[in-house]
Amino acid sequence: MTRIVRTVAELRQHVRAWKAAGEHVALIPTMGALHDGHLSLIRLAQTKVQRTVASVFVNPKQFAPHEDFDAYPRGEARDAQLLETAGCDLLFAPSGAEMYPQGFATTINLTGVSEPLEGAARPQFFGGVATVVTKLLIQAEPDIAVFGEKDYQQLQVIRRVTRDLDLPVEIVGAPTARAEDGLALSSRNAYLSAGERAAAVALPNAMKAAIAAVRAGGRIDEAEAAGKAALAAAGFRQVDYFDFRDADDLSRLGPDALNEAKPRLLAAAWLGKTRLIDNMGF
Ligand code: PAF
Repeated sequence: MTRIVRTVAELRQHVRAWKAAGEHVALIPTMGALHDGHLSLIRLAQTKVQRTVASVFVNPKQFAPHEDFDAYPRGEARDAQLLETAGCDLLFAPSGAEMYPQGFATTINLTGVSEPLEGAARPQFFGGVATVVTKLLIQAEPDIAVFGEKDYQQLQVIRRVTRDLDLPVEIVGAPTARAEDGLALSSRNAYLSAGERAAAVALPNAMKAAIAAVRAGGRIDEAEAAGKAALAAAGFRQVDYFDFRDADDLSRLGPDALNEAKPRLLAAAWLGKTRLIDNMGF
């Protein structure tokens, strides 16, 4: 079985022993409820380093009080089994008290790339993510850390934080894993009813159509409006954003996205009680 450790001291003991033996180490931070998307991060890490550590911690600091912290799917035994099958060397599963001891008072405060999109829709989110990821990187001392491009803005924020704070780790982005019909894999897909799951494919389809329209010379504002209309027609009750942005700093693009260096389409929309996010490059 993949070994499970629950304290920072035990985690460091393992990582330092591997490093002393000349091995390189990857950290794959997760909130559990693992699916093939997470396992693809581990597989990517295994092509780069000898040892992989997955962390599973449902981080309360990145959920607002009205969000789904309590409902978030949890299942350590299943997660540990999947990690074992994937050949992951270590599971770090700390308690809330290990991560946020009594009196914990430090939060990372961000500006810039964290502000639009997810930052506007979920103002507490990136402060919580940056705080826990920074702690995990300091705790595990990995050579690399792997994050999915599925949470594209999160990946850009983490790249920014590690550069700004001089954290000695390489951040690696991994391509989004998708179901056969194109829906991005996400732990929150478990919230969808069968009918919602069938409708959810409208999200990647609307994004592909918007990219095709802009590639064919269409205006980006028209492609964004058409994408939002397609989601409404498919039963999405609210679109938080469906925006073409600069892939690096997520700033708004000029009227012709194809003239911009690296355009990226990012979207977040609600299907019933489930908020789905996705993004695609050109
Ligand atoms: O993407 C996630 O699962 C989480 O935001 C992360 C990076 C593990 C931090 O809690």
